[in-house]
Amino acid sequence: MSSAASDKKKTEVGSYFISNYPPYSQWNPGELPAVREALDGPPQDDTPLGLYLHIPFCRKRCKFCYFKVFTDVKAAEVQRYVDALCNEISMVSELAVMGDRPFRFVYFGGGTPSFLSPKQLTKLADRLRQHITWDGAEEVTFECEPGTLSETKVKTLRDVLGVTRVSLGIENFSDTILEENGRAHLSKQVFNAWEWISAADFPNVNIDLISGMVGETWDNWKVNVRKTLELSPESVTIYQMELPFNTVYSKDILGNHVESPVADWDTKRAWVEYAFSEFKKAGYSVSSAYTVVKDPTKVNFSYRDNLWKGADLLATGIASFGHASGVHYQNLPELEQYLGAIEAGRLPLGRGFVPTDHQRLVREMILLLKRGYLDVGYFRDKFGVDILELFGDQWQGYVSDGYAKIDGDSIKLTTDGLLRVDAMLPAFFEPEFQGVRYT
Ligand SMILES: C[S@@+](CC[C@H](N)C(=O)[O-])C[C@H]1O[C@@H](n2cnc3c(N)ncnc32)[C@H](O)[C@@H]1O
Ligand code: SF4
Repeated sequence: MSSAASDKKKTEVGSYFISNYPPYSQWNPGELPAVREALDGPPQDDTPLGLYLHIPFCRKRCKFCYFKVFTDVKAAEVQRYVDALCNEISMVSELAVMGDRPFRFVYFGGGTPSFLSPKQLTKLADRLRQHITWDGAEEVTFECEPGTLSETKVKTLRDVLGVTRVSLGIENFSDTILEENGRAHLSKQVFNAWEWISAADFPNVNIDLISGMVGETWDNWKVNVRKTLELSPESVTIYQMELPFNTVYSKDILGNHVESPVADWDTKRAWVEYAFSEFKKAGYSVSSAYTVVKDPTKVNFSYRDNLWKGADLLATGIASFGHASGVHYQNLPELEQYLGAIEAGRLPLGRGFVPTDHQRLVREMILLLKRGYLDVGYFRDKFGVDILELFGDQWQGYVSDGYAKIDGDSIKLTTDGLLRVDAMLPAFFEPEFQGVRYT
């Protein structure tokens, strides 16, 4: 069940964010031979290639976070992980599926990649460059938690790693709210980090905010929007707070039978709508249900757009998700298993899934719908399918609900639709995946 999907007003435990199809819970180790075949086979012509590197460490676990992260880890263990990651990349660089393709986009995600010290980052870059190059990549993203940054680290990102897009997890500007939600940083660190980031002159800086942090009010939300506008980033991503099962808050709600402390969905949507309208007044454009960009001609979101359109993504790091020649896979999710596989000279593959052509179509259609529009002709050309005919009932339903408008080959979400797009997506799932757990 998705709380977004059920569209209940309360933010209940069990909600999730749709980022792939079929649901991750359906992927399994039995499909690994097909994954190996894809990785050991030739690349598909003209498919863009990306690299994802996962750093699972954080200074502190935020009470709302659903990612698998490690805190209080000893320096030697972090080093063991970074060494394993380098060895994994050396194995990945030998895979036949790479072909002669350059990496079009690179993404350092987490957890908190900026948890690593400048020295560790320099060493990581040096070791990676022995095996791969990403100098020609059109986008190199690096996720940062504000309190982990220093002037030297920011320079290292720009000069040594070649980062072009910094994504800064500010989430909220109120120290009371940051502390209540278990964030490791306070607002002062945001402003320090901003100075170093501005001085380094990255082509693209993104700010992450969350609508619906515990303690959030209209007054605070308006301050968040105003302060974000004052920083004038190239893009802003606003997530609506989700409560998957594994967050600290979710466990508290379920274990202690307390009411959800998170604002209801209508309020969270109203906050995003307010933010979008303020950003639009300042010249930004809405580029998806979660993102506004200052200059769409300059910011192209290579990672997001390529991934949604079915690009290959070689996944490295614990529990990372990848995609090669149309086949999904995920790395082993437990630290000892992951490290053990690499230390034994094996790729740490955990499970996979070979989607049917129909499932590939559904994946691409639901992910691209997050941008707020679809071109029916694009799917006709790529999959030989008319999505208006195939999903006639769903589209008609959404048009009469006031969530979508159809004009010839153009499907457009209304503002109401865009703000609840994640709730609209499961309707396109095949019946056997409608009621299953997502992750
Ligand atoms: C991997 S973190 C970004 C980097 C760094 N770890 C940080 O938090 O600053 C990715 C983003 O996911 C979002 N996020 C995490 N848990 C969430 C939740 N329960 N609901 C909505 N967004 C969430 C936050 O906005 C966070 O910035
Ligand atoms: S939101 Fe970011 S900093 Fe907080 S626990 Fe999750 S990954 Fe770590």
